[in-house]
Amino acid sequence: MANRKLIAVDGPAASGKGTLARRLAAYFDFAYLDTGALYRAVALSVLDAGGAVDSQADAVAAAQKLDMTMLDNADFAARLRTAETGLAASVVAAMPDVRAAILAAQRQFADTPPQAKAGAVLDGRDIGTVVCPDAAAKLFVTARPDIRAERRWKELQADNKAGAAGPDYETVLGDIKARDARDAERETAPMKQAADADLLDSSDLSIEEAFTAALALVEAKLND
Ligand code: CDP
Repeated sequence: MANRKLIAVDGPAASGKGTLARRLAAYFDFAYLDTGALYRAVALSVLDAGGAVDSQADAVAAAQKLDMTMLDNADFAARLRTAETGLAASVVAAMPDVRAAILAAQRQFADTPPQAKAGAVLDGRDIGTVVCPDAAAKLFVTARPDIRAERRWKELQADNKAGAAGPDYETVLGDIKARDARDAERETAPMKQAADADLLDSSDLSIEEAFTAALALVEAKLND
């Protein structure tokens, strides 16, 4: 039975899935979980502990110790958003034992949303396929790589503290392509559109237009 209280939003880096997922959660008054932040937190914890992100032992140990309240720390949360952390996240995210270590926490969030919310929106790469295959509404949000790189480049510029130069556009585009390839080609829970997900290409849409389109698709599934 499809769960009408669950919305799964997947897609590649900087496709706009996070913005849409957050807005959908606000609209339905559902809880929101950015599962990418969990993989980013694992990677950052490894680096902060002086470990290596390509070491299975270091990454799995960090994943087992992961505590969602870490994301409430403003300094840690800001460091999660950097381009380096994004790339490091895609390295630890390719390890099956890392994924297994944080699967139960994601499902628990979906099944028992915090603050007694009536439902949940999760965004990531494998929400519709692996974490919440029973979600009634599933979106796969995408956009052309050049558009995604431009959006992420602007975000990184805005995130940068005064004075620090961010990566240039070509570097951001290269990082996004490298991450897309690693996410789509890995063996465990690769990024892919679930068979029953709706595709939303946000390349030529404003945020408002994308949200209107997303809401129409989600409402059709939740009311089905
Ligand atoms: O915000 P952006 O789309 O750039 O990335 P993110 O959603 O924060 O995810 C960072 C990385 O975590 C991705 O490149 C994936 O490697 C990994 N990830 C994953 O494997 N599975 C998820 N459900 C979410 C993220």
